[in-house]
Amino acid sequence: MAHLLGNDALKRPFIEAILNKASHFLTLGLQCSSHRQILRGKTVANLFLEPSTRTRISFELAAKRLGADVVNFEGASSSMQKGETLLDTFQTLEAMECNAVILRHQEAGCCAFLAQHTKSDAVLINAGEGTLAHPTQALLDLLTIHQNKKTFEGLSCAILGDVANSRVAHSQILGLRAMGVQDIRVIAPEFFLDKDFLDAHQVVSYTSLREGMEGVDVITVLRIQQERLAKRLEGNDLRAYSSEYALTESKLAFAKPGVIVMHPGPMNRGVEIDEAVAEGPHARIQEQVFYGVATRMAVLTYCLS
Ligand code: NCD
Repeated sequence: MAHLLGNDALKRPFIEAILNKASHFLTLGLQCSSHRQILRGKTVANLFLEPSTRTRISFELAAKRLGADVVNFEGASSSMQKGETLLDTFQTLEAMECNAVILRHQEAGCCAFLAQHTKSDAVLINAGEGTLAHPTQALLDLLTIHQNKKTFEGLSCAILGDVANSRVAHSQILGLRAMGVQDIRVIAPEFFLDKDFLDAHQVVSYTSLREGMEGVDVITVLRIQQERLAKRLEGNDLRAYSSEYALTESKLAFAKPGVIVMHPGPMNRGVEIDEAVAEGPHARIQEQVFYGVATRMAVLTYCLS
């Protein structure tokens, strides 16, 4: 039994174990009936206190395909509206013998905090916290890259957009580093670059999309995290951002011919990515969603056995 609390987990042996397990599930087919024995008798609780489509549904499907029972907790209709704390809510789930709690929360450190207060052997799995960490997204991104490129060696990987406010970017950078990727770049205007983090991890930043795209094998496009900005980017400022940084077919031509385009979703078409790119031959966005289920099946198996 093991928690998956944050970015510290993104070490090479763990990543390889998850990628191998996920590939095994992919080979057998995700809906293969024999998987249903793996978590039979276990209960998984989805505790999502920020909006989510892909992550929440893929954890639910992953748990069900492994034979677990699933409860989905809706913050808006729960006793949290009556002042109940996160810790009380978590301990309520523990008292009901939930074996795993999948937590999404806006504040960094919540997963680790709850893990220090467990009264049972329930495992905590981080499904995105604040701007800090989204480890299962990094794992599915790495699986998508590996399925397409077969190796991490010699790859050039770029992340385009609101890096500073993106837990997806932070976790992906650490995951790529752990897998030995040397050339990791970010492309964004200055106000979306968190220099301290990028310097600490030797990530090269580009404000010119053309220069940053030169020769990349993988590009991950990010949504502007409007809900986390002190002041939303709107009107002319938003249009200026899009004309400079939205990924279009003509800008994609600066990358390697076999470049793959990823996006964690939700996409804002026309803002950070053009329709033609999102639906084009380089896009692997739907594939990421599919691999997300395999990845979360691997994570649940790892954490609960
Ligand atoms: C992301 C998230 O919530 O961090 N989405 C996801 O989990 N697939 C990215 C985002 O909200 O932009």
